[in-house]
Amino acid sequence: MPVSSVLIVIAMEAEAAPIVEHLRLTPSDKMPSPFKAFAGTFQGALNVTIVCPGPCPIHGVDAVGTEAASLATYIGVQTYEPGVVINAGTCGGFQKRGAAIGDVYLVDEFRRHDRRIPIPAFASYADGSMEASTQTALLVDALKESWDVEKGPEAKGAVKQGLLTTGNSFANTDRCVEVMESFGAHVKDMEGQAVAWTCHITHTKLIGIKSVTDIVDREEGTAPGESEFLENLSAAARSLKTALVIVLKVLQARELDHV
Ligand code: ADE
Repeated sequence: MPVSSVLIVIAMEAEAAPIVEHLRLTPSDKMPSPFKAFAGTFQGALNVTIVCPGPCPIHGVDAVGTEAASLATYIGVQTYEPGVVINAGTCGGFQKRGAAIGDVYLVDEFRRHDRRIPIPAFASYADGSMEASTQTALLVDALKESWDVEKGPEAKGAVKQGLLTTGNSFANTDRCVEVMESFGAHVKDMEGQAVAWTCHITHTKLIGIKSVTDIVDREEGTAPGESEFLENLSAAARSLKTALVIVLKVLQARELDHV
């Protein structure tokens, strides 16, 4: 069935701002506090809602990470009953597997690198492998076709496809690095696999779109990831907006009979 309604889950309001503005979405009061939602339509036909976890009521910063992302997705799915969820956001990239700052990744597999449960029956649950929409390759083709024209001359980066691994830390322990290597991860974030798990239990299709703000596997002594992240956050959010608009066009044009 073609989709008529899309829920976009984005962890940080700064990541969501360009697409909220571009689509002229307006605040929706259907999500309980502290979650935030912005709703509207795309080209008059597709219902689009963006949900963000909102600020942590204790610490006042965006509630990044898996708990708030799962809850935002779960409540968002129950409230808006979307045909598909898109988890959009920023990520760190592995340059040894081809990632560069500004690239936009369509996720074909989600995993977890921070769950270590040395009990054999739990090993594959801990890794948490979840597949994305079966239409990912088609969306990659559509994005590649329009990307150079739509992104404008200033934006860097290319469209790529790969494995996203999720953990609740921006910084990495040595063990996290080993696990991410064992997955052959292209990109890492702090929400994707949790959104994928929530989509699985709610029988909702998922598309993952991540824009690279920082390089995870830099050589020692070069810029640390967190300053790179802050430096590249707004450019990455603009790239996400461009990618999301292309994907919404594909969904709106009913070019996929299912996602
Ligand atoms: N989001 C953007 N960059 C990230 C990184 N290096 N690790 C986790 N989440 C991120």
